[in-house]
Amino acid sequence: MKILVAGGAGYIGSHTIVELLNSGYEVVCVDNLYNSKLKTIKNIVKIASKNIPFYKVDCTDKKKLEKVFLKEHFDTVIMFQGYKAVGESVKEPLKYYRNNIDSALTILELMDKYSVHNVIFSSSATVYGKNAKSPIKESDDALCLNEITNPYGETKAMIEKILMDKSNADKNFKAVILRYFNPVGAHSSGLIGEDPNGIPNNLMPYIAKVATNKLPYLNVYGNDYKTKDGTGVRDYIHVVDLAKGHVAALKCFKGNKNNLFIYNLGTGKGTSVLDLVNAYKKSNKLNVKYKIVGRRLGDIDKLYCNPKKANNELKWSAKLNIESMCESSYNFEKNN
Ligand code: UFG
Repeated sequence: MKILVAGGAGYIGSHTIVELLNSGYEVVCVDNLYNSKLKTIKNIVKIASKNIPFYKVDCTDKKKLEKVFLKEHFDTVIMFQGYKAVGESVKEPLKYYRNNIDSALTILELMDKYSVHNVIFSSSATVYGKNAKSPIKESDDALCLNEITNPYGETKAMIEKILMDKSNADKNFKAVILRYFNPVGAHSSGLIGEDPNGIPNNLMPYIAKVATNKLPYLNVYGNDYKTKDGTGVRDYIHVVDLAKGHVAALKCFKGNKNNLFIYNLGTGKGTSVLDLVNAYKKSNKLNVKYKIVGRRLGDIDKLYCNPKKANNELKWSAKLNIESMCESSYNFEKNN
């Protein structure tokens, strides 16, 4: 199987390419390097000791992307391309709708034209909306646009809907939707990891910057939630486990009568902000200064999944613990 990885130089894409290469798949990568670096591709090659064709192409540019389709004959696409900063999407909604929807449609139209039938889409737990009750199952309500709190999340829901409609209309077309919970950590080599531009919005990369004295302290957004210590609870999943979830998902394309699959990828365990801070301190033997401040707009008290469907059907489960997430995060941050 030869796989096109769109947005493969990014955080989750790069870890997935490593796992695909380790499992013997052929990979072609396209990325516009808007939020990623060419160095990541070189590091993927170093880790896996295998070369991959890389094209600096924006997936909204149909002409350029078509040349890749013509040159490389792949049978599966994994779609990681897309902007992902929640706060930015609220400030610049048009940029998010244009880029995320346009790139997905462009890829899907080219897949149609060149008879590529299999796609995996990186979706998010955000599609369950603000009223979701944890632990969340795939069969719980999702894609209710009035419950999704930001345009980034809405683009994920819209692309899921596009894939559902396409799979209804075309029985040869097979789509796997993977709803990620909170991916954190980095590859054990320390060569690839999460490297956001500017000040991080997400918790783990922010803690990493405080731990390495690049930022003075962490703002903990609220300690008055209905959780055990009052801080927000999330389902943190090691990015290497998440990457392996994509390799496991490829089995949906083999000899299966269904043509639409939806899975939660998470650990099923809830971890609070203070749990994560304490685990980071303990695992790396250092201090992480923090201040409790007011709640962040749009945040909910807890969000964690029931991962049983992926466990049973994909024979996949998250193996790496919070300590390993914290150690690998610090190891990457120190080296970069
Ligand atoms: N938090 C802080 N301080 C920070 C950053 C975050 O206290 O500086 C807290 C938040 O309030 C929340 C928790 O840490 O309780 C996790 O926040 P993140 O920003 O790391 O992650 P979110 O759960 O808000 O959002 C993430 C992704 C989204 C995705 C969503 C799906 O960023 O892309 O998970 O559940 F849609």
